[in-house]
Amino acid sequence: MKKDLVSISDLTKEEIDYLLKKASHFKAEPKSDLLKGSILATLFFEPSTRTRLSFESAMYRLGGSVIGFSNANITSIKKGESLIDSIKVIGSYADLLVIRHPDEGSARLAAESTHIPVMNGGDGSNQHPTQTLTDLFTIQECQGKIDGLHIALAGDLKYGRAIHSLCLALAHYSVRLYLIETESLPLPQAITDELKKKGVKFSFHKSLDEVMPKIDILYMSRIQKERFEETSTHFHNNCTLKKSQLGAAKKTLRILHPLPRVDEIEKSIDATPFAYYFEQAANGVPTRMAILADLKK
Ligand code: NCD
Repeated sequence: MKKDLVSISDLTKEEIDYLLKKASHFKAEPKSDLLKGSILATLFFEPSTRTRLSFESAMYRLGGSVIGFSNANITSIKKGESLIDSIKVIGSYADLLVIRHPDEGSARLAAESTHIPVMNGGDGSNQHPTQTLTDLFTIQECQGKIDGLHIALAGDLKYGRAIHSLCLALAHYSVRLYLIETESLPLPQAITDELKKKGVKFSFHKSLDEVMPKIDILYMSRIQKERFEETSTHFHNNCTLKKSQLGAAKKTLRILHPLPRVDEIEKSIDATPFAYYFEQAANGVPTRMAILADLKK
């Protein structure tokens, strides 16, 4: 049976750890011809910088080639073709497919519509599993481990797909989670239930300052404005991280952010040793090399 990566829950802890190990191999050895002759199709129905380009870079680094689009308005979807029909056809042009789409469940639908492996590059506010593997790899890289860490997640817990997948993945490890909720943007109940079911220790907080001295990783995220009405009061981000707040932090704290950043992290923090989000973005390439190589086997 073909493998897909639609939800982070598709992977066992052993499979996650295996992919992280493969990613560190590709980080050390970034050139390979493992996927020579193979084609990746990149189908991006929503804006993307890192996910699409790091997938493309990963595929080229593995010796493969890329076809695809980042503007669905110039495809036959615009003429009224269904996603299923498009995927069926594209599946006969490529060996692997990555899709980003605004509808939750679209990546699952794509996976069911083709015989080639499908990776979810973000489906609405649901899941973003390849970002999560990048995040786990980065956490392990900057802290030397995942188990035992105290991790705060802040920003848009409601619509942030990167947050959702990361929470589910961290439930495999023995971590302590601090969830900093932005007003009106709470973590979905299904994720809270999963954390409880897995016995993860977690608590909700209104302010970052309450937890700052305890944490090893601070995962910031952007308010997902495109996922709710223009008139909504959610627009106001009350969770901007200021350099002055880091006075209370451990020296070894590292700040992550899936990017793009809007106003969640003061720019002056970039030059401090706490900032690790650009390294995190760079890690998207070796991590996605590991994913591509594994799914194409
Ligand atoms: C994230 C996404 O698209 O969900 N970006 C990314 O893939 N690096 C986060 C975001 O857009 O806020």
